[in-house]
Amino acid sequence: MRPMDGLARALEALPKVDLHCHVEGTMRPTTVVELARKNGVPLPTAEPADLYTYSSLDEFLAVFWLVQSTLVDRDDWARLAYEAVTDSARHGVVHQECFFTPARHLAGGQRLAAIVAGLDEGLAAAEAETGTTCRLIADMDRAFGPEAGRQLVEELVGLRSARSPGTDRVIGVGMDSTELGVDSTTYAPAYDVARAAGLRLTGHQGENSTAQQVAACLDALGLERLDHGVPVLDSAVLTAQMVDERIPITVCPTSNVVIAHCFDRLEDHVLPRMRAAGLLATVNTDDPALSDLDLGREYAAVAEAFGWGWNQMVEVALDGIEASWLDESEKADLRARVVMAEGPRV
Ligand code: HPA
Ligand code: ZN
Repeated sequence: MRPMDGLARALEALPKVDLHCHVEGTMRPTTVVELARKNGVPLPTAEPADLYTYSSLDEFLAVFWLVQSTLVDRDDWARLAYEAVTDSARHGVVHQECFFTPARHLAGGQRLAAIVAGLDEGLAAAEAETGTTCRLIADMDRAFGPEAGRQLVEELVGLRSARSPGTDRVIGVGMDSTELGVDSTTYAPAYDVARAAGLRLTGHQGENSTAQQVAACLDALGLERLDHGVPVLDSAVLTAQMVDERIPITVCPTSNVVIAHCFDRLEDHVLPRMRAAGLLATVNTDDPALSDLDLGREYAAVAEAFGWGWNQMVEVALDGIEASWLDESEKADLRARVVMAEGPRV
């Protein structure tokens, strides 16, 4: 048995939170094939495992958009959400804050109310079965531009006021998709609407952009959490601000290697330097099914790559809880579960 195996098993069981996970990116390859068949969506290959191949963020996004296109009715969203949480719970995830990115579906005529109601139905069933909790973050898709983003947020806020089913589960807004040729600060009007409605604010930045662009986003959009943030350490001023304000970064180490190709190997990732600098840098999956990953394996891979032991990984798990948008009593409950967790047998 390899020496990592005991630690990997304990990390699988360690209660963990995932704060950077796209619900569409959890779609099992078999579900993609079944939904595509059901909804008459042509796939480039009938072999599920061959679907998920790409060599840059934008190539990945083409696959992501294909996966999204298989989601057509409310039942599809419910199935996706149910499978997302039952799959993550099997690997020790006890709480997740999941993105959904509906721009493509709304442009195609789907209703936001039906998407959210479907997601909520699947999540409620999975929560009841597993005990894992899941909240939603509505992400704006930068491929559709800032005006579509603002309209999405306006509609969401309206549905929440009308108590449309499931909308109380949507606790925040974010943005994702391509960074190339995009000035993310143009999303400020959308974030202003979200902030005024009491929604939490996050955003993807820093897979394909500089520390200056990340800093401009924090400034212009008032992000209270940052998704990816790979180049943050390149700016001492930005690093100091994020350390002082304890602005969390939802880092996705394996994704940064296999999706955005920011590093050749996990061992080259800046995560250890981020944490050593005092940044609240957490560990998350991004698109687990599309990168053949789960959070238990991600914790084990991070531990192995950086030579971190049980105590360091417990710190990572606790930082995830701090970075979450749970309330203080929920955080205290989860912290208690983490510190009670059994470490590897020696
Ligand atoms: N980056 C940008 N957009 C995305 C990602 C990502 O990692 N995953 C799904 N959409
Ligand atoms: Zn992401």
